[in-house]
Amino acid sequence: MSINLDELQSIGQRRLIGCWEHTSTIMTEGKGCIIRDITGKEYLDCTAQAWTLSVGHSHPRVIGAVKDQIEKLANVFFAYRNVPMLMLAEKLAQINPEGLNKILFGLCGSTAIEGAMHLAMRYTGGQDFVTFYNAYHGRTFTTIGMSYTQESFVQVKKGLEKFVPKPIRVPSAYCYRCRFGLKYPTCNLLCAKFVETALQHAADTEVAGVMLEPIQANGGHIVPPPGYFQEIRRICDQYDVPLIFDEIQTGMGRCGKMFAGQIFDVIPDIMVIGKGLGAGFPITAVVTKEKYAHLEQGEWGFTHSGSPFACAAALAAIDVLIEEKLIENAERMGKMFMDGLTELAKRYPIIGDVRGKGLMIGIEMVKDRESKEPAVEEAEEIVNQAMERGVLFGKSGVGLRGGNVVKIKPPLCITKEQVGQALNVLEDVLKEVQS
Ligand SMILES: Cc1ncc(COP(=O)(O)O)c(C=O)c1O
Repeated sequence: MSINLDELQSIGQRRLIGCWEHTSTIMTEGKGCIIRDITGKEYLDCTAQAWTLSVGHSHPRVIGAVKDQIEKLANVFFAYRNVPMLMLAEKLAQINPEGLNKILFGLCGSTAIEGAMHLAMRYTGGQDFVTFYNAYHGRTFTTIGMSYTQESFVQVKKGLEKFVPKPIRVPSAYCYRCRFGLKYPTCNLLCAKFVETALQHAADTEVAGVMLEPIQANGGHIVPPPGYFQEIRRICDQYDVPLIFDEIQTGMGRCGKMFAGQIFDVIPDIMVIGKGLGAGFPITAVVTKEKYAHLEQGEWGFTHSGSPFACAAALAAIDVLIEEKLIENAERMGKMFMDGLTELAKRYPIIGDVRGKGLMIGIEMVKDRESKEPAVEEAEEIVNQAMERGVLFGKSGVGLRGGNVVKIKPPLCITKEQVGQALNVLEDVLKEVQS
């Protein structure tokens, strides 16, 4: 089929239901950390395409595994088992934190989050969930209910109230903008302790679970302080409420360990993984302990969940992560980024905060360091200008129009030279935006 760029753009405008703030750029090829658009322009991809391509674009082992699988068996109904699905279940049981060895496969992160909620509700008989300010758990009706307190997103729930649940919301550990106006460590982790208050006083029914991202992702890469998760774990244990980790963004090596919970030395009761798991192919999983792993016949399953080719991709991606030592690389390259950004913060006051773990890094832009007014337009400008100069960054966080936090989450195979390139482009853009 021969079709030119203008025609393709026109199809996009005429045919797609636009509901996403996006560029009209059409991407056509990717390799490693580089993605190319239809005009041939190359970009260093510091987004890993919604943070999924942990092993990089089109890793030959992943593509090879998928090709081999689709030649044998491309699809099979989930009620039957398939070899890659069983091998992946076994592999996950080996790499997961201790005890998390029972598995449900999902298609996308949002439905897997619902799977985790389902298990927790069946175990506890509870109906309420505790979730956190700035959380993001997905875009199905249930998961938008669990998400989105940022002003930019509250509007997506309007008019859907009948189907959107309301969780018990508690402040997250956002030290840069502490909701209690306190400072760590003299705060004595009040935000963590507040979860106990919520469990005691805020629920109308039994609480089915406390659900959070170990590092809040769409909230703006918000990293809790030391001791936070020990307190949350203590509270969940004391009240026998399952602790659910949404590791959809943080898991599969992104933060410099296989799972972010390992950085904070805490094991949840139920954990949800996705994104990097399939290295670009659609697969997610809920993993849990034996005691929560109970559903009745027919209570779970989607047409394509556990599809053989996506499981084959995930199996290959896990091998690549381990054998090519990409998790260690994430830690090293993450440190290089953090050092470079800390230096930039000394010269560019628009940088209010730099935070992250491994290759999950956020740069919070502010108009003024004293007032911390979110520099939303400037963050947008930075991302747009960097794209023009050939580097893709992400954006989320506080404020309208998608937030004020510039996000760096490249494939975990990024090299030192590419980190240098990203930092140089960022500095060039900061000079312009701040002038
Ligand atoms: C932390 C987190 N949870 C859940 C989701 C939802 O995943 P999906 O878009 O695959 O439904 C996302 C997606 O960005 C996410 O970042």
